[in-house]
Amino acid sequence: MIDSRRMWQDAAKDVSWHRQPSVLLDDSTPPFYRWFPDGEINACYNALDLHVEQGRGAQAALIYDSPVTETRRRYTYLELLDKVARCAGLLQQLGVDKGDRVLLYMPMVPEAVIGMLACARIGAIHSVVFGGFASKELAVRIDDATPRVILSASCGVEPARVVPYKPLLDEAIALAEHRPEHCLILQRPLQQASLLPGRDLDWLSATESTAPVPCVPMRANDPLYILYTSGTTGQPKGVVRDTGGGIVALKWSMKHIYNVGPGDVYWAASDVGWVVGHSYIVYAPLFAGCTTLLYEGKPTGTPDPGAFWRVISEYRVKVMFTAPTAFRAIKKEDPVGEYIDRYDLSSLQSLFLAGERCDPYTLRWALEKFGVPVIDHWWQTETGWPICANCLGIEQLPIVPGSPARPVPGYKVDVLDEAGRPVARGDIGALVLRSPLPPGTFTTLWNAPDRYQSAYFERYPGYYETGDAGYIDDNGYVFVMARTDDVINVAGHRLSTGAMEEVLADDEDVAECAVIGVADAIKGQLPLGFLVPNTATKTSAEELAARGISRIREAIGPVAAFRLCVVVQRLPKTRSGKILRGTLRKIANNEPWVMPATVDEPQVFEEIAQTLSRLGYPPE
Ligand code: COA
Ligand code: AMP
Repeated sequence: MIDSRRMWQDAAKDVSWHRQPSVLLDDSTPPFYRWFPDGEINACYNALDLHVEQGRGAQAALIYDSPVTETRRRYTYLELLDKVARCAGLLQQLGVDKGDRVLLYMPMVPEAVIGMLACARIGAIHSVVFGGFASKELAVRIDDATPRVILSASCGVEPARVVPYKPLLDEAIALAEHRPEHCLILQRPLQQASLLPGRDLDWLSATESTAPVPCVPMRANDPLYILYTSGTTGQPKGVVRDTGGGIVALKWSMKHIYNVGPGDVYWAASDVGWVVGHSYIVYAPLFAGCTTLLYEGKPTGTPDPGAFWRVISEYRVKVMFTAPTAFRAIKKEDPVGEYIDRYDLSSLQSLFLAGERCDPYTLRWALEKFGVPVIDHWWQTETGWPICANCLGIEQLPIVPGSPARPVPGYKVDVLDEAGRPVARGDIGALVLRSPLPPGTFTTLWNAPDRYQSAYFERYPGYYETGDAGYIDDNGYVFVMARTDDVINVAGHRLSTGAMEEVLADDEDVAECAVIGVADAIKGQLPLGFLVPNTATKTSAEELAARGISRIREAIGPVAAFRLCVVVQRLPKTRSGKILRGTLRKIANNEPWVMPATVDEPQVFEEIAQTLSRLGYPPE
């Protein structure tokens, strides 16, 4: 049994503090635990300056590979430090101070990393919004985070289209109540944006003429960033990560979970807009002195299913991390692995998968094709780093497909029943983590400490409720099977069906609606919407469904992948009027279900099953 306190005391010695903490944990106000409360530290210093001071200035810190723009760029630690320090200087000139928020709405370009680290350098709290979200979602986040400055770009590049980010940003600012004082815009050669005089600045010319500034020491518990994630309603949760705990835990994880160190090339094929991007594209690899890769492309189609293998061989990647959905997309186009054989993948030591449940079939395929450990690991935006994993830097455990292995030291995982009692080994229940959570996990929700308490810590006193259901087997392996709430996972992206319902319901022709997740062979899950029209409506069913689809794309964004929408005359409900979403889900996913005793009109289930079958659900 590892002594957690001792472990974190030792881990804290492995990072560089402006002021060493004398207290390990302040547990006086649960569930608001504070690790290293009297320490002072800076995340940018630990990511960049420290390595330059230790003589690694000439080593590659960041490699940018963009098949969609045919660009490759390499930044040494020294070069990245210079760019970050100038950008930080510019932010200060624009009035950004310690504790101010800066929002980033950026494609996968080096400036996104530079912007995040520049904020960390001066103690500004960054909040990155994923580029696949539409203006309305962006506006909600602008109003919640109230940023002084927004960093963005003229456009993003998807394989089939150029995404004009700046017009989306302008629309979001118009929709929001809060007005940022300035926007710093990266003009990309593919499409330039028009700038609003007085408010907008051209990123490159403005930073070039700015002098670099030093790091500002931060209290360990000062927020490093806010990252919004989906909950059960349309109001996203602003997950707050603190500075000291984040640095200690992420650096520890690189050595003990991923088994990498200074000079190793580490690649998380995700997006800076997600937690994987924050933790494992930007911060952790740089804390560990690795070379991190920023890939602006897809697993397939940029240009072919060999894209990932090209990157691994070209940059001698040692550890890669992606979502199972990416592998399923590749496997569909290259089932026998022809493209894998075209590249020298001898540098690859291990592959890590997360973001959604990894089906055993995909895991076995990857194990067979690569001949290296393929590690499924489980974590969430809230935890910021893995809860369960096969820790390659400690001891490699046998790989059991379908399980992210055992809890990582520092986490205590239990399975509880509805009444909060521990279930028997092998029985399914709510996956919970014993409080206090380890360093690096979220410390509160931005502007919503009460929600932090009620959404995560109230139902099972003394525990953090993960929102996942699963079981633990006789060997202590954890199996994460499903969500217990209205969150679905589409291509590794976490989305709220509740938020989609809010958009669909906001239509004068719609009486009520429900959105559920249905299984999809590539994306894991897809949202499927049911609309019940008002009796008086003149709109045809086709038109209503098409309108629902475009409204979700406009309000939430293309990332929702909302393409399945049907009009039905009624939805199954309990006598008290509650829509039986769980039963709908089971019918659509071919899971066993029983007719609830409290249903008024049992024949409605038959109608729903027929409608779903016309859509091809459940699949054969
Ligand atoms: N900016 C703007 N639009 C974006 C975007 C961005 N950053 N990212 C995605 N989109 C758009 C896409 O263009 C697409 O739009 P479309 O409906 O017009 O085609 C839509 O959002 C859905 O995108 P995506 O989820 O990427 O699906 P896809 O069909 O283009 O590709 C996969 C499918 C599986 C290849 C892709 O989802 C993937 O690589 N997933 C890995 C996910 C991942 O890394 N998750 C992080 C956890 S580790
Ligand atoms: P996110 O906060 O976007 O990282 O999504 C977190 C959710 O993704 C978790 O609560 C799980 O539902 C799911 N998830 C992440 N990793 C895994 C995994 N390895 N196995 C099963 N589910 C996972």
